[in-house]
Amino acid sequence: MVREWDPRTASSDEVASVLDTLNAVLAADLPQDPPWRESSLREYLSEVMPGERRISWVAQAEPGPDGLPGPILGHVHVLLLGDIGVLEVLVHPDVRRTGLGRELVLLAARRVYQEGFQSIGVEVVGDTPAIAFYESLGFAREYVETRSVLDLGAVDWPALAEMATGIGAGYHLEFCPGGPPDDLIEAYARAKAEVRDVDDGELRPSSYDPQRLRDSLDTLHRRGMKPYIVLALHEHSGEVAGLTEVVVPAQHPTRADQYDTIVVQDHRGYGIDRAIKARMLLELRSAEPTLAEVQTWNAQANEAMLKVNAELGYRPDREWCEYSVDVAELVHRLDAAR
Ligand SMILES: CC(C)(COP(=O)(O)OP(=O)(O)OC[C@H]1O[C@@H](n2cnc3c(N)ncnc32)[C@H](O)[C@@H]1OP(=O)(O)O)[C@@H](O)C(=O)NCCC(=O)NCCS
Repeated sequence: MVREWDPRTASSDEVASVLDTLNAVLAADLPQDPPWRESSLREYLSEVMPGERRISWVAQAEPGPDGLPGPILGHVHVLLLGDIGVLEVLVHPDVRRTGLGRELVLLAARRVYQEGFQSIGVEVVGDTPAIAFYESLGFAREYVETRSVLDLGAVDWPALAEMATGIGAGYHLEFCPGGPPDDLIEAYARAKAEVRDVDDGELRPSSYDPQRLRDSLDTLHRRGMKPYIVLALHEHSGEVAGLTEVVVPAQHPTRADQYDTIVVQDHRGYGIDRAIKARMLLELRSAEPTLAEVQTWNAQANEAMLKVNAELGYRPDREWCEYSVDVAELVHRLDAAR
């Protein structure tokens, strides 16, 4: 049975069942990734930025002979933001290739269409069945990034400590657990906005104005995701010359996610990228003693950043692709195939 599902009011058993399916999917498709935990999963599935909406459906098996509800074997949600719906679909490996994934996409696509949105985007992990699935539905590949993973157990810490101090004169680094301090929010947002204009192109969501930045930090906290930031401050002007952001999610606290790393154009060439990332890893080592890995996503063309990541010990892991489709065409195609 497929039905709309609200994670805010769902029973704990249902949330636990979605978690089981998610972990079965990870074990099948990304076996090196750590399994997710239930901690803040409900919040992760329900909290959104102001102005955004997330709509979810589940596919639940029939009750067993004991009369208890069956497990949730499929889950889809779509996040409505700007003029796009961002889709995520999970089907338990035991029930794949039965048409369930297609059915879930059709439900979400119809709603996105009714809501007046033009297109649907989805992140698809390279070398998994999802590539053939989305291509069979007419999604087109827009963009490819490489995910890389750093094993903290293999890091050369003395070398890292040296990198963290190898920064040009006139700058100093500041570690900000929880987010940038309030008096630096405006300078922080300016740094992000400038770099977006120059050379952005990555998939991670970014926040460019102070209010959006505050909202984004607040949303992260509500979703159980703890941000850490290292700033490079230009002493003369007080401007943020560089920043790097890492998030430790309660759902998989042994593997952190690297978000943006930015060095403002005028401050490039002073070793800031390497120094802020190295300092971040040193700080995380004491702030998050259970952390074992950090993952990061980079545009394949971003050679400078890939080089620094390799020096720090990151190893390329998978392609991470962004696909999209016109909603009207998708609904038409799926309806016609029924
Ligand atoms: C992608 C996914 C949703 C597909 O679900 P599904 O229920 O198996 O898909 P369907 O049965 O509806 O398949 C529809 C079509 O997609 C294509 N397809 C799906 N899986 C395929 C595979 N393994 N190989 C080739 N084609 C495939 C086929 O054309 C299929 O039609 P057919 O079976 O009539 O040939 C499922 O594999 C999944 O949950 N993957 C994980 C996705 C994810 O987000 N992972 C994130 C963490 S890794």
